[in-house]
Amino acid sequence: MKIQEFKLERYFAKHEFTAKYLLSSSDCDGLPMQQILEMATDAELSLWNNLTLGYTESEGSHLLREAILQHYRIKDIAQVIVASPGELNFIAMNVLLEPGEHVITVSPGYQSLREVVHSLGCEISFWRPDPENWIFDVDDLNELIRKNTRLIIINFPHNPTGSYLTGSQMDAIIKIAREENIFLFSDEMYRKLTISEMPELIPACDLYEKGISLWGTSKTFGLAGLRLGWLVCRDIEFLKKVQSFKDYLSICNSAPSEILTMIALNHSEKIINPILERIKFNIQIFQAFVDRQHLIERFISPRAGSIGFVKLNISGSAAEWSDRLVKQTGIMSVPGEMFDYPGKYIRVGFGRADFGEALEHLSEYCSK
Ligand SMILES: Cc1ncc(COP(=O)(O)O)c(C=O)c1O
Repeated sequence: MKIQEFKLERYFAKHEFTAKYLLSSSDCDGLPMQQILEMATDAELSLWNNLTLGYTESEGSHLLREAILQHYRIKDIAQVIVASPGELNFIAMNVLLEPGEHVITVSPGYQSLREVVHSLGCEISFWRPDPENWIFDVDDLNELIRKNTRLIIINFPHNPTGSYLTGSQMDAIIKIAREENIFLFSDEMYRKLTISEMPELIPACDLYEKGISLWGTSKTFGLAGLRLGWLVCRDIEFLKKVQSFKDYLSICNSAPSEILTMIALNHSEKIINPILERIKFNIQIFQAFVDRQHLIERFISPRAGSIGFVKLNISGSAAEWSDRLVKQTGIMSVPGEMFDYPGKYIRVGFGRADFGEALEHLSEYCSK
């Protein structure tokens, strides 16, 4: 199997730990471990203090899977598997797909949501939003369905546009999938970061017997360093195949990460509420920046998630502009071509505490 380079991850590898400001990160600032431990109950703390560092249960510990299921309607821990989010995406596609099958995925999008499918020799169709408002139209999705469509991949809150679905759009997608007996892989990595008036979506696994929901600690919880995520799905045979594929990759999860994730999930509101406040605040100051600068041609405020996708008022490409920006100011921005959307777009991330400072430096740069 040959797979293309993951452009976005290579780009981050080049700049993430040397740039002074990260203007385009999708994750929120990493929380101090101490903050998680301070939230812990005595029982949780005792698990932490008595932790041994051997192998762990390959599907994820009982306690962790129970903590995960507090956030779903599904209540059977056999319907959950824990691993790193990217690994779960990679495995799920490998387990579900055969060469020549047809898959529909969102575009622009997070590269692995199309690249793994591509590497497996499947045919791909892209479900694209309206660039005037980043709204995805379910009728467009319906038109992409073919006789050999095996899988629909969605990602809401959406990376990179911040687009979201209404409950009735989600129902309509499930109706299409159910009629054609198609799996629905729903990447819900930005779940619970609902920043507009739109109600939170119910996870796909709770609505559809062939729905597979992916979520994890990186975005919603500011805990990317734990490297944990989970799939929830009612199809136990599928989950068994995922577990056995995982034996060739990580085998099982990091024991300290499992405990810290469990504590975070048990006290989720304490973590998520301040993150949401920061995102909302940073969106406001970005809107003020957009109003007073000529740099941004179009900003559609995200409806959910921690990111937006903005069109720049520049003469060259966003890739060239981002390259100059990081060299001249130390501000890293991610151009749209990392999401298969070349042109004048960059992603903007609203989850960082130093976002206002980064914007001040960007203002200075623009006024030179
Ligand atoms: C839509 C989406 N899915 C999956 C991932 C992978 O998450 P992680 O970095 O925690 O593996 C990301 C990370 O940016 C993402 O944006």
